[in-house]
Amino acid sequence: MIETIKQQIKQTLEAYYLTQYHLEIGIIVEEPKNPELGDISVPMFSVVKALRKPMPDIVKEAIQVLKTLDSVEDIQNVGAFINLKLLKTKLAEDVLKKVLLEEETYGSSTIGNGKRVTLDYSAPNIAKSFSVGHLRSTMIGNSINLILKKCGYETFSINYLGDWGTQFGKMIVAYKKWGNLEVIQKNPIQELTNLYVRFHEEAKENPSLDDEAREAFRKMELQDPEYLELWRWIREESLKESTQIYDLLGVTFDSYNGEAFYNDKMEGVVEELEYKGLLREDQGAQIVDLGEDVPPALIKRSDGGSLYITRDLAAVFYRKKEYQFDKILYVVGNEQKLHFTQLKRLITKMGYDFADQIEHVNFGLYLTNGKKMSTRSGRVVKLYDVLMKAIGLAYDLIDAKNPQLKDKEQTAKAVGIAAIVFGDLKNYRGLDAEFDIEQSVKFEGQTGPYLQYTGVRIASIIREKEIHLNQMDIEVFQKPHYFDLIKQIASFKTTLERSASEYAPSILAKYLLGLAQSFNKFYSIEKINAEEEALRNANFAIAKATRIVLNEGLRLLGISYVEEM
Ligand code: ARG
Repeated sequence: MIETIKQQIKQTLEAYYLTQYHLEIGIIVEEPKNPELGDISVPMFSVVKALRKPMPDIVKEAIQVLKTLDSVEDIQNVGAFINLKLLKTKLAEDVLKKVLLEEETYGSSTIGNGKRVTLDYSAPNIAKSFSVGHLRSTMIGNSINLILKKCGYETFSINYLGDWGTQFGKMIVAYKKWGNLEVIQKNPIQELTNLYVRFHEEAKENPSLDDEAREAFRKMELQDPEYLELWRWIREESLKESTQIYDLLGVTFDSYNGEAFYNDKMEGVVEELEYKGLLREDQGAQIVDLGEDVPPALIKRSDGGSLYITRDLAAVFYRKKEYQFDKILYVVGNEQKLHFTQLKRLITKMGYDFADQIEHVNFGLYLTNGKKMSTRSGRVVKLYDVLMKAIGLAYDLIDAKNPQLKDKEQTAKAVGIAAIVFGDLKNYRGLDAEFDIEQSVKFEGQTGPYLQYTGVRIASIIREKEIHLNQMDIEVFQKPHYFDLIKQIASFKTTLERSASEYAPSILAKYLLGLAQSFNKFYSIEKINAEEEALRNANFAIAKATRIVLNEGLRLLGISYVEEM
C-alpha cells in the first residue's frame, strides 16, 4: 500500500519536472521516523539544486502537483520537506480486503519471473557427523529457496553431498584396520564416527596412515570395485543421519548429486584447462595461477588425485548446462570465502563470462558462550540430539501451560524446531551468532515460539467467527495502533523482495517480530471481540490478516504454524 503510493508520488513529481523543465530529477520518498510528521515525506533538496530556485517556490509548486493525488488527505511543509498524510481509511480497507481474499498467496511477487536460480546448500560431509555449520546452511538455504519461489523465481535446490574425497579413504583404512561389521550395523552413525575419530588420533602418532588414506581414495577414483562397494555402504549409512535431520526440519531437495557424481566429469575440465594453457606443474602437482591477489588453485595432486575445487569446477559447468541458471547460490560458511573467489577466477580465466552469476551466500559461526559450537572430535554434540533437546524443552513448557492440549507431541515438535530455526534466522547470516537453546524456546522475547504463540492467540479469537468485510468501521483504521499494524501488513511483499534480493531471511524474521509486537500492542489496547458489529468486523479483519501474514512468513522461514499451544 504505502509502497505503491510512494511510487506514485515519485513518478508524479518526476514526470512533472520532466515535462515542465525537461529535467530528470531523482525524487526520494521516505517514511518519517516520527509519525506525527505524516506518513510520507519528500525532501526537496535535489529539486532545489536542479532548478536553482528558492526553496519556498519549489515547495509551493510541488504541493500543487501533489494535491492532485486522491490518496492524499493532507499536505504540510516543514523546511525542505513536504510531509503528506494519507487517506488512511480507504487504504486500510483495501489492504485488509486484499489479504483476506488472497490468503496465503498474499505477498507473492513477480520480481523473479523468468529467472532461474540454482541453490547449493546443506552439503554435509557424510563420513563425518552432521555439523552445526551444515545445519545453518540447511536452514538458511531452505528459507532462501522458499522466499525466492514466493518472489517468482524458478529454483533448483541441490544437496551437494560431501561424499567423495580423502575422508572416505580414511574411513576405509580405519574400517579395514579396526572395524567390525556387526558392531557397526547395530549403530552405524556412532560407530563410523568412532572409527573416524580413532583414525585421527592414531594418525597423530603415525602419519603414514594419512598416506594410506590417500592411497585408498586414489583407488576409489580409479574405480576399484572392493573400495567402491565399501564407499557405497558407508555413504548409505552416513546419509541416514542427515535424512533424520531433514525429516525433522521438513527440508527436501531437488537433487542429491554430491561430489562423487562429478568423478567422471572432472577429466574434461582438466583437459580444457590444459588445452587453454592454464595448468602449470608445481612439485608434481597441477595448479592454475589466479593472479597476484589470489593464491593458485590446486587442481590435481601429485598422485593424480582430484581436489575439492576440481569437483566444484566440474559441478558448476554441469549445472550451468543442466539448469541454465541466471544465478547460482552457494550457502556456505565464511571460511570458504577464498574457495569461491578461486572458483570464480578460474571460470573467468577459462574465458567464460558467468562468474558474476556465482554468489557465495556466506554465513558465520554459532557460538555458545563466545566459543565455537562444534560437533568435532570425541565428545560429539550430535545435532539430532540438539534438536531433540529443543523439542523436549518445548514439550515441558507446553505441558506446564496447557496440560489438556491434544497432540502435545506434535506441537512440541513444531515449537522446538521453530526455536532452533528462528534462533538462527533472526541473525544476519554473515555474522557469528550467539546461540542459546533455552532462550530460543521461550514463548516470549525474540523467538520462533513467540511468533507461533501470537498466531495461536489470534486463532483462538477469530475461530469460527464470521467477518463481514463490507461492514467494517473503517474510521478506526486512522488510530495509530490500527494503522501501524496495517502498514506493516501492507509491507509484507516489499519485505520479501528485500529478503530475496539480499538472500537474507533475517530481514523477514525481523519483520515478523515487528508484526507480532504491533499486534500484541493492538491486542493490549483493543477488545477485539467488540460489542459493536462494525467495529468487531474491523477488528476481526485486522486480526485475521495478521495471522495470515504471520503464518505465511513463518512458512517461508521453514517453520510450521500451530493451531494451539
Ligand atoms: N561439503 C562441503 C563442506 O562441508 C560444503 C560444500 C559446499 N558446496 C560446494 N559446492 N562447495 O565443507
